[in-house]
Amino acid sequence: MASIIFRRAVSLFPPAVRRAASGAYLDLVSLPARVANPDRRQEPWQTIHNVGGGDFAAAGRENLELLKTYAGLTTSSSVLDIGCGTGRMAAPLVDFLDPNAGYVGFDISRSAIETCKRRIGSKRTDFRFVHVDVRNREYRSSGAIEETELTFPVADNQIDVALATSVFSHMTLESIGHYLAETHRVLKPGGRFMFTAFALTDQREAGIQAGRAALDFKPWKDGSMVVDPNSPERAIAHRLEALEAAVSTVGLRLPDGVRYGGWLPPTAYPGGQDLFVAVKPASQA
Ligand SMILES: C[S@@+](CC[C@H](N)C(=O)[O-])C[C@H]1O[C@@H](n2cnc3c(N)ncnc32)[C@H](O)[C@@H]1O
Repeated sequence: MASIIFRRAVSLFPPAVRRAASGAYLDLVSLPARVANPDRRQEPWQTIHNVGGGDFAAAGRENLELLKTYAGLTTSSSVLDIGCGTGRMAAPLVDFLDPNAGYVGFDISRSAIETCKRRIGSKRTDFRFVHVDVRNREYRSSGAIEETELTFPVADNQIDVALATSVFSHMTLESIGHYLAETHRVLKPGGRFMFTAFALTDQREAGIQAGRAALDFKPWKDGSMVVDPNSPERAIAHRLEALEAAVSTVGLRLPDGVRYGGWLPPTAYPGGQDLFVAVKPASQA
């Protein structure tokens, strides 16, 4: 109950203040676990860059397993981490990837990239972290360019495995379409892209209306739903067929469809958001 009242109260503030406040709340509730578990004492503080609750290192390790299982990640894979945040997904790659296999992570948050450089770049000088000056109403309203104008900081056909965890859940369909096109450009033929999003079907919308979802999505536009119409990028759910169409429009394929996550049961894998693995065909017919 206290947490519901707290969340309602902080939603009245601008995104940056709200995210810092919600990060402070997560830091507070995670304090006992941090004190009890020495492995968790090194976690970045959520107040500074809020990437969501839970065990930071454990989430990274779970994601590493998903990348190996579904995206064919090997120790020699070159990796692109889109919206890398404070390095939750990069951290377990430090010990996994061979020297010079290749890792590039980019994010619109300067503080997140500085954190990655300090904490991870110091251990792996071959890992590259790049700040991109892009606008997103939730995470960086002062960015210089639109999401649809960004050229990813990677040359064509370089990447074996791309990932975007909990990033498309903060982007409009138009922006997602552009990021998919850029991902297609940088993937090698046969390369894979694992991303998460909130996907809507009629049945899942009925589940939301029945109060079974972890987020309180409300109708927005073009069939998409948002938690906060005043700040849509706080959390956006898109129609499944729209996400599938955006993937196929750029020439990627979704051989396994979608695996539904825990935000709205029934679930098909242990993660929170819905999971997609897109493939760039080895040869474009
Ligand atoms: C919820 S966090 C997830 C971070 C990281 N992927 C993880 O799973 O720990 C969302 C991240 O996406 C970044 N972000 C938001 N819009 C972006 C965009 N258009 N391009 C790149 N990063 C973006 C935010 O700055 C933030 O670091």
